[in-house]
Amino acid sequence: MEGLFGSYRVLLAPMAGVSDIAFRSLCLEQGADLAFTEMVSAKGLSFANEKTRHLLALADGETQVGVQLFGHEPDVMASQAAWIEDALGENLAYLDINMGCPARKIVSKGDGSALMKTPGLAADIVRAVKDNVQHPVTVKFRRGWGEGDETAVDFALRMEDAGADAVTVHGRFAEQLYRGSADWGVIGRVKEAVSVPVVGNGDIRCGADAVAMAQQTGCDAVMIARGAEGNPWLFAQVQAALAGHPEPAAPSIEERIAMARRHARLLTQREGRNIVRMRKHAMWYLAGLPGAAAARGCINYCTNLEDFDAVFDELLEIAVAHS
Ligand SMILES: Cc1cc2nc3c(=O)[nH]c(=O)nc-3n(C[C@H](O)[C@H](O)[C@H](O)COP(=O)(O)O)c2cc1C
Repeated sequence: MEGLFGSYRVLLAPMAGVSDIAFRSLCLEQGADLAFTEMVSAKGLSFANEKTRHLLALADGETQVGVQLFGHEPDVMASQAAWIEDALGENLAYLDINMGCPARKIVSKGDGSALMKTPGLAADIVRAVKDNVQHPVTVKFRRGWGEGDETAVDFALRMEDAGADAVTVHGRFAEQLYRGSADWGVIGRVKEAVSVPVVGNGDIRCGADAVAMAQQTGCDAVMIARGAEGNPWLFAQVQAALAGHPEPAAPSIEERIAMARRHARLLTQREGRNIVRMRKHAMWYLAGLPGAAAARGCINYCTNLEDFDAVFDELLEIAVAHS
């Protein structure tokens, strides 16, 4: 599998509400080659919205980041892409444009996957952004909009023609949301059609999945989202599998709890309302552990680090008692 722009081949996906500096730093530490910010509203940035700007903060030790923008106005997208390039300089790896998000509040404004239904506008956005920045510009989209109506190959060709430097394909239709399984065939079809690098995305849950996707599709890089929730170790497993090495063993209960504790601490270093985010991460880290179902209720009331530590302490005790 060839690298995307060099050595980036295993990527943490942009994830709203998840891929903040805390989660990115843990995924990078475990072997992600590059991580994407949560999607950033171009409109929000243009209003100098502080809440939007802090999405662009870098994690400790993060030398390069992928930034994902969403919006539908070519001029706003272009001016904000230039602002990001200026603000991040060498720390910016590339700018991605979100054309895949199916959330109603996004598509109702013509953003995200709605752009798959307006490919002319989507191409205008790519051209406008490309004209305004030096960094590579990539586009992330889905198999198509309506279930059964695969438009990804045509769409990819139009994005390439408009100047996109790479494309990321998630093998589900927008109307499918996250239902069913991702179709990797479409990644292969896009790869055959375009000459820019193609990133494959959807349903990578273990190292073997990444190897299978790479072999079946010929993709240049793989992108991982939900599989890494509560499981940053997935990046180490994927890197090992792609290198042809045995996958490292799954983390022990103690390691899972220790990672959850670190995650909570990292979140307190982030601006804004942080620790509430830890509730969902805690559920993910602890899923399936003895006592986790009962801890769920407590986690929903955690409002600070001490609250989380108390839950983790209790779960550790239960785990030790079970072992
Ligand atoms: C909580 C969550 C937030 C997401 N936020 C974004 C986002 O901001 N931008 C984007 O392009 N995709 C977003 N996605 C989609 C993922 O990047 C990815 O395309 C999708 O989850 C399929 O990959 P997976 O099977 O590895 O999860 C999000 C997905 C989830 C579950």
